[in-house]
Amino acid sequence: MSDNYVQIFDTTLRDGEQSPGATLTSAEKLQIARALSELGIDIMEAGFPAASPDDLEAVKQIAIQVGNQMRGDREPPVICGLARAVQLDIDRCWEAIQYAKHPRIHTFLATSPIHMKYKLKMDPEEVVEQVREMVAYAKQYCDDVEFSPEDAGRSDPEFLYLVLGEAIKAGATTLNIPDTVGYTTPEEFGALINGIMQNTPGIENVVVSTHCHNDLGLATANTLAGVQNGARQVEVTINGIGERAGNTSLEEVVMALQTRGQAYGQMTGIDSTQITKVSRMVSSLTGMPVQPNKAIVGANAFAHEAGIHQDGMLKHEETYEIMRPESVGLNKSELVLGKHSGRHALKVRMQELGYDLGNDALYEVFGRFKDLADKKKVVTNADLIALMQDELYQPREIFALQDLQVTCGTINMPMASVRLQGPDGEQYTAATIGTGPVDACYKAVDQIIGLPVNLIEYTVRSVTDGIDAIGEVAVRLEPLDASTRTSPQTGVARPVQFSGHGAETDIVVASVKAYLSALNKALVGTGMFVDSAENEPVIA
Ligand code: KIV
Ligand code: ZN
Repeated sequence: MSDNYVQIFDTTLRDGEQSPGATLTSAEKLQIARALSELGIDIMEAGFPAASPDDLEAVKQIAIQVGNQMRGDREPPVICGLARAVQLDIDRCWEAIQYAKHPRIHTFLATSPIHMKYKLKMDPEEVVEQVREMVAYAKQYCDDVEFSPEDAGRSDPEFLYLVLGEAIKAGATTLNIPDTVGYTTPEEFGALINGIMQNTPGIENVVVSTHCHNDLGLATANTLAGVQNGARQVEVTINGIGERAGNTSLEEVVMALQTRGQAYGQMTGIDSTQITKVSRMVSSLTGMPVQPNKAIVGANAFAHEAGIHQDGMLKHEETYEIMRPESVGLNKSELVLGKHSGRHALKVRMQELGYDLGNDALYEVFGRFKDLADKKKVVTNADLIALMQDELYQPREIFALQDLQVTCGTINMPMASVRLQGPDGEQYTAATIGTGPVDACYKAVDQIIGLPVNLIEYTVRSVTDGIDAIGEVAVRLEPLDASTRTSPQTGVARPVQFSGHGAETDIVVASVKAYLSALNKALVGTGMFVDSAENEPVIA
């Protein structure tokens, strides 16, 4: 690997998916894994196999299906699994990743005084011994072993040099330095990496990596400081999702290295024109919206509102734009679409927005576009994106919405009648009252499907300005008898959650679609719905 190449280690499917509410089904993980591979990442942390049998299986499928797929003349990405520094985790990790052409075991143990004393209840000497043993244990399985001293940002640097030196002797090939709680400043984190480069025996034979959390909003700055001091791998997630305030965001680091080439002198293997597409996919599937002013991928990242800015832009784009929107896969078309626009115009616009539609998909989307254009005079790019997200990133429809009728207001209790089509092709109807129209609908859906759940989160937002805007609804729910998955850091088992989303001009319809989307995932995830050998869907 050349000295001016920074490897992109994506942990969207592990640290990103660990954030509350971001739970993905196995099929969704695979979909994202394929997109990440196409995006050009070097290493993919596909999950924490010891979290649950489902997590193990999802990592295994990614190892098989994505970890053996060439990308043109580029090798498949390294498929990495996370394991605590204990034998059982390492065994499970290997069980899952061994099918990849390039597998990696990533094992970790905390090294900060506070973690060693209160969480691990171990002496520093015991920590060093366990690192030695577990790195060597992982090495028996796999040549490519990464070790992370958890909470390195608050660890004693001298102790880190010792632990990292022992990890290298035991066979680690990558040393990842996590600022687990997002505590350090760029100056401190840069100095930490520099100290490690200068003082760790054997460091010249391994790759040093950064892993920064964003609690103080410094994750990208810290990561770049790490790169300036010799790190040649960065651990990042799409949209910066992750525990608490999240991880360093892939798009920010990649675009900083690309846009400020002279400042950093480093390149990556990322095809930046795919960033917007992957960002939208991750946002839709995790149910985690991107804030409008988010760098690179926020809806306003390339929008110029102020008159003085617009004037400048018209005179010369570089007055207010440091990156071309096309470089992240955005194309700003000024053409307005409306009810007279044809299929070809829609196809071209979708391509500009980063969606390549085949004939079948175009047919489907065109129907929805026409319905929308009948309701709204002007269909904006934001409308089209909402429509596409709704079309593309929905789970398999086990129960599908057929009809819905709601009465509400100040006179009577809100009441809803809902008709769904079940997996057997039958129509099921229920009518109920509720505290509001959405509550009434959800109760009717519950009566039909019969899967007891807690609704954890419900949000509705309008996609554009205006009274006729599309409403986008996101929900998160937890089945009452959900299986659990263990957090790698705390060891605590949490029930599995499922998210869903829906987009319609009628927000009650969008709400029901979002709820059904989450329930359809939950039906599969809880094993209540299974496909029989003949592929005949049955309710267990
Ligand atoms: O933040 C952290 O310390 C981690 C480790 C497991 C690398 O995610
Ligand atoms: Zn982390």
